[in-house]
Amino acid sequence: MEQVEIFEVAPRDGLQNEKRLIPTAEKIALVDLLSQAGFRRIEVASFVSPKWVPQMADSAEVLAGITRGQGISYAALTPNVKGLEGAIAARADEIAIFASASEGFSKANLNCTIDESFDRFAPVAEAAREAGLPVRGYVSCVADCPYDGQIDPADVARVAERLAHLGCYEVSLGDTIGQAEPVRLGQMLDAVLAVLPPDKLAGHYHDTAGRALANIEVSLGKGLRVFDAAVGGLGGCPYAPGAAGNVATEAVHARLTELGFTTGLKPDILTKAATYARQIRGAPNA
Ligand code: HMG
Ligand code: MG
Repeated sequence: MEQVEIFEVAPRDGLQNEKRLIPTAEKIALVDLLSQAGFRRIEVASFVSPKWVPQMADSAEVLAGITRGQGISYAALTPNVKGLEGAIAARADEIAIFASASEGFSKANLNCTIDESFDRFAPVAEAAREAGLPVRGYVSCVADCPYDGQIDPADVARVAERLAHLGCYEVSLGDTIGQAEPVRLGQMLDAVLAVLPPDKLAGHYHDTAGRALANIEVSLGKGLRVFDAAVGGLGGCPYAPGAAGNVATEAVHARLTELGFTTGLKPDILTKAATYARQIRGAPNA
């Protein structure tokens, strides 16, 4: 059976928007459960400004408190050199730099233009290479931007290629607001695949409009074999009924299994982790 990897992002993307400041011990318990589920990579931390994302302010404590599973890479977001220094001190196994395909989101998320964000990422990537840390790249707003509207696939391809040129071993394509229809998502992938091979790409689809699984199927057809997901579908706004977050890991696992792929994950532990994730969010999953 062919392997597809799910890159687990619940402890970071899933929790970062939560209004309740989740106790560090609960984050550690979630990561420890996930470590038993069979993931090879888990994004657990984010060394960003605590003024911008208060929920991630205890990232160093989370990395210090988890029980590290053998062969698992614990990943952290790093927007600048200060973030990289924090990630190295906390012994993250890999880091991620995150760019946007749209100027509006770059400004809102990083307080700078796309070009300026790359000026900041270059020294991060170089220092990470010197420290022997693999660097992953994200492109946000690959289909739609909440500020700039629909995004030209050529803009996504250009940003993805720039991340690869900085040395990112993989570029994760984010449908940040989860509005892409499968046809449009496929057109975006065609543009990116003209500049990067499928084994350098991952799909990161939010499930806001309920199309993430369909978009994963389109991506599989184009050769992608890595997808980001969050147990329990964490990542939606708990105060917006019906708003979904990241595509749920357990749903991706189930669909991939139906399609004849293997994920290497243990379904019983996934179920436990999903239940726990929804519990610490304190709201029933939409
Ligand atoms: P800024 O305000 O322009 O930066 O923010 P600054 O350099 O002027 O710094 C402001 C303050 O933040 C200073 O502190 C810095 O020291 C501090 P002060 O002097 O005011 O006390 N600071 C930091 N503190 C800790 N760690 C750091 C750091 N850097 C500066 N690394 C900045 C620019 C990039 C810092 C800010 O915009 C930021 O932190 N943005 C991060 C936003 C974020 O985390 N968004 C969520 C992740 S992206 C995402 O979720 C999308 C993704 O899932 C894919 C998808 O779905 O599309 C990946
Ligand atoms: Mg995301």
